[in-house]
Amino acid sequence: MRPRFASNSQFALERRPFIRICQGLTAVLVLLAFVLLVSPSPVRAEVPSGSLEEAKAYYEKLSTALNYSTPEKIGETTLTDLAEYLGYKTLTAEKLEFDSPDALMADYEHGATPGDVLVARFFAPKIMNVKFKEGEADFRLGWRKLVRLKAQKDSPAQKAAEGKIGKIASAVILFNTFTRPTEAPYGRTNFSVNTQVMLLPDPADIRPLVGQKGAGKMDTVYWLDYQNATAAGPGKLGYALNASFDANELPGAGTKDYFVPHGCVACHAANMQRPVLNFMDTDHWFDRLNNDFPQLKASKLALLYDAETNDPTAPKFKRVFDRIKTFNREADAHAHLSQPKHDETLASARWLELHETNFAPVPPIRRAIGAAPQWPADDKNEVTVLETLNQYCYRCHGTVKFSVFNKQTTWQRRANATERLAPDAALGLKMPPDRDLPKDKRDLLLKFFNP
Ligand code: HEC
Ligand code: HEC
Repeated sequence: MRPRFASNSQFALERRPFIRICQGLTAVLVLLAFVLLVSPSPVRAEVPSGSLEEAKAYYEKLSTALNYSTPEKIGETTLTDLAEYLGYKTLTAEKLEFDSPDALMADYEHGATPGDVLVARFFAPKIMNVKFKEGEADFRLGWRKLVRLKAQKDSPAQKAAEGKIGKIASAVILFNTFTRPTEAPYGRTNFSVNTQVMLLPDPADIRPLVGQKGAGKMDTVYWLDYQNATAAGPGKLGYALNASFDANELPGAGTKDYFVPHGCVACHAANMQRPVLNFMDTDHWFDRLNNDFPQLKASKLALLYDAETNDPTAPKFKRVFDRIKTFNREADAHAHLSQPKHDETLASARWLELHETNFAPVPPIRRAIGAAPQWPADDKNEVTVLETLNQYCYRCHGTVKFSVFNKQTTWQRRANATERLAPDAALGLKMPPDRDLPKDKRDLLLKFFNP
């Protein structure tokens, strides 16, 4: 049986107790209590996925609290309703999905203030089924389109929340598409398989952190997830994201459902009340051209799609990069507000520092974060170890449980990592869960964790 996810994801993420036993008696007792309470052991190592019942209950509550549709009708809403909720009366699901960033950002389209609409399209290795390699028949490239809409004055998002828990300040919409390597991305008949949405409250309405003042009552993020559109029209609200994070453990096409909200929170800093907006890690996208995707590199397809080139000195590249930088500033501010000490927050701050004036990709070793000693640039072996962790583990362990860019929190897990990297580790425990790890890479990592 697959374990059901506990009602509080922060706890559920801590459900594998035996690793931490060395961390003191209190921890042991607390974790044992979790095992007894929440964990139908033995547990599989999977990205926590939530359940349909929880997702339904979540949407009903969200609808009432945020005045988005009604608990009865929220299931019938589409992205057109979402745009209207934010005050964009002429913006439709179709335009959101298919109009170019320039067209969408041109404010005359929907009467918003310049800067209220931010759009970027980019290569998204994180959504790809890495079980399949370049050249294989089932190999597909992943592409995302990000749309950030600020709520308009007097919109239902701003106004209707009055007297309720607070205002919604903006929404982030993320479209997900896949192409064959020979196919042009963002074709008009290539519908987003699933469209993820975050509603972001006005910072003043967010529940203050422990020890801070404030009367806010809101979580840092509210989640929605829309089903694919078809030629017949836009998709309705869905309850789950169908993804390939555990692909190597799944039969056939290798995907399964990740339900709102728990399946989402797991990778957005693992706290139900304080999830974070993840920054766009452009550097990671470029890294992958040099390991998993040499054919994509040779194809010259632009990773920042609308830049039409991967040359960071080209004006068009800079223009698109600046849009992503604007988004990353917002993500960083949101992360600082939500969980100021989280690795995701350190990582977004680092990205901004590295790209303050620089448009070119930066190699992994310069992206190290966390307490000293960090990953050392002068140790060739460790540089390679970090590059390997970046290629095979960062997809999840940028955000799930630990970040591979933080050497100390990675090293603390060496016993656990050794157990999970063993070639005969049980399915469910085995890392990575989404593809096979080549022997030389496994040996390199095992040697690092067991010097
Ligand atoms: C597709 C997602 C994914 C990838 C890729 C992945 N992991 Fe994991 N990993 C997880 C999940 C989810 C958990 C939590 C599982 C649980 O709680 O039982 C986990 C747990 C772990 C843990 C235990 C952490 C803790 O604090 O309990 C270690 C260590 C680990 N992974 C190492 C690795 C290494 C090393 C790689 C790369 C070789 C890797 N993982 C790749 C999803 C992933
Ligand atoms: C396995 C990890 C993972 C899971 C599960 C996941 N996300 Fe994300 N999400 C990310 C990462 C990483 C990004 C940053 C974009 C990228 O790297 O392509 C992101 C980006 C986003 C964005 C764009 C705003 C931002 O934070 O950058 C939205 C919206 C979003 N996710 C919604 C969802 C929703 C809704 C769910 C659940 C149905 C979900 N996510 C589940 C990892 C995850």
